[in-house]
Amino acid sequence: MRFEEHDTAREEDWKRIIDAVMAREGRLNGLVNNAGIAGPFPSTFETETVEQWQRMLSINVQGVFLGCKYGVPAMKQSGGGSIVNTSSLAAFLGTPALSAYGASKGAVRQFTKTVAMDCARKGYRIRCNSVHPGIIMTPMGQGILPNDKARERALRTIPIGEFGTPEDIAYGILYLISDESRFVTGTELVIDGGMNAI
Ligand SMILES: NC(=O)c1ccc[n+]([C@@H]2O[C@H](COP(=O)([O-])OP(=O)(O)OC[C@H]3O[C@@H](n4cnc5c(N)ncnc54)[C@H](O)[C@@H]3O)[C@@H](O)[C@H]2O)c1
Repeated sequence: MRFEEHDTAREEDWKRIIDAVMAREGRLNGLVNNAGIAGPFPSTFETETVEQWQRMLSINVQGVFLGCKYGVPAMKQSGGGSIVNTSSLAAFLGTPALSAYGASKGAVRQFTKTVAMDCARKGYRIRCNSVHPGIIMTPMGQGILPNDKARERALRTIPIGEFGTPEDIAYGILYLISDESRFVTGTELVIDGGMNAI
C-alpha cells in the first residue's frame, strides 16, 4: 500500500499522480474518485456565498472530472479498467441545508454516465459507475449530525434503522471496481439502508 499527498481539485496533482503510477506500476486499471467536502452546514442557496459554491464544485465536481480526464488515457494504455465516482443520495433529492453539496453530487451522477457512454462507444473497455451513500458515520456524517437529537431524527428516516459504515460503501465500490461487474456501466449503486425507496 502507498499513500501520496494529492489535492484532487488541482490538475497538476493529477498529472503527477497518474504519471507516477504509470512509471512505477506500468498500468492503471482501477480508480475511485472518493474525495469530497460537505460543509459549511447548514448552507441554503440564500446564504451560500459564491466562494463557498465554487470551492464545493472545484473539489466535488472538478476533482472527479480531472480524475476521469487523466485516469482514462492511462487505463486505455493499460488495456481497460473501471472508474467509480462517489456521489451521494443527495443526487436524487432536494438538499435545502446543503445546497452546493446536492448540486455537486447531482453533477457527479450525470457526468459518470457521460464518461461511461463515451468510453463504451469508443471501445475503450473502461467502465464508469457512481455509488450513492446514504448517511454514513464518518467525520463528514458526524459533522452534518453533530448531536444526539439530530442523529435520532435522522435514524428515523432510515428504513433499516441504523447508520451505514464505511465498509458498507467499500463493498459496493469493490464490486464495481472488480471484473465481477464487467457488464455494469453508467449505473448508480445506492447504499442507503432503504432511504431512497421511501
Ligand atoms: N458520510 C456520508 O454520510 C456521505 C454520504 C454520501 C456521500 N458521501 C461521500 O463520500 C465521500 C467520502 O466522504 P466521507 O464521509 O469519508 O467524508 P470525510 O470528510 O470523512 O472524508 C473525506 C476525505 O476527503 C478528503 N478530501 C477533501 N478534499 C480533498 C481534496 N481536494 N483532495 C484530496 N482529498 C480531499 C479529506 O481529507 C478526507 O480525508 C465524499 O465524496 C462524500 O461526499 C459521504
